[in-house]
This record gives sequence, C-alpha cells and structure tokens, in this order.
Amino acid sequence: MKWVKVLADAELAEGERRVMDVQGRSIALIRHGGELFALGAKCPHLGGPLHKGKISDGHIIECPWHHSKFDMRTGEVIAWSTWPPVANVVLGAISPEKRLTVYPTRVQDGQIEVGIEE
Ligand code: FES
Repeated sequence: MKWVKVLADAELAEGERRVMDVQGRSIALIRHGGELFALGAKCPHLGGPLHKGKISDGHIIECPWHHSKFDMRTGEVIAWSTWPPVANVVLGAISPEKRLTVYPTRVQDGQIEVGIEE
C-alpha cells in the first residue's frame, strides 16, 4: 500500500467534506465526530453522490439518492436500496449489493494521507 498526501490537516475542519481525485480515484474525505474517513465518492448502488449523504451514529452514511447505508469505517453495507420497488427484482440482477470502498487515513507532519492499494 502506498500513502498519498491529499490535504493539509488544518484545511479540513470538523464536519467538512471534500471530494478529490487521488491517483485516478474519486475519493470523499470527511471529518466527522473527530474521525477522518476516506471513501469512494460515488455510491456503489447507482453512482449517487454519496459524499453528500446524511451521517448517523458517527460513521454510517446514507446515500441521498435511494437511501442505501454504508459503514464508513469498514465499507460494510448496512442497508441496500430497494429502489425502484417494482423493478427491484430485475434491478437486483444488474445492481447486486456491493460494499463501499473505503481507504485508511493517517496524519503525518500536518498532512492527511490516504492509503491506496498499488
Ligand atoms: S445511488 Fe445510492 S442508493 Fe442508489
């Protein structure tokens, strides 16, 4: 794994979210409840803007499009969308449940770094 500097620690205040391109990946950097999270900015369901989602329980993010929920610490699916209700069986075939990609973070010399698999 390679650690990539993405932002000065002081530039991401509590409650802030930034989407950035890190080595070709669109990653949302979120500071919430004193924790730093790095996750895929697009929802694994149908590509919604996950970084704009509501956060609950400190580390669960809910997609604003169809309300899938993911654990920002592990990427685990907490709730997978049933949207659209009628076509869900068909859609399920083309949009099976997928984990959220999450990345480790650390702060080194005042810089936030994200761990990327090489
Ligand atoms: S795009 Fe996120 S739940 Fe559908």
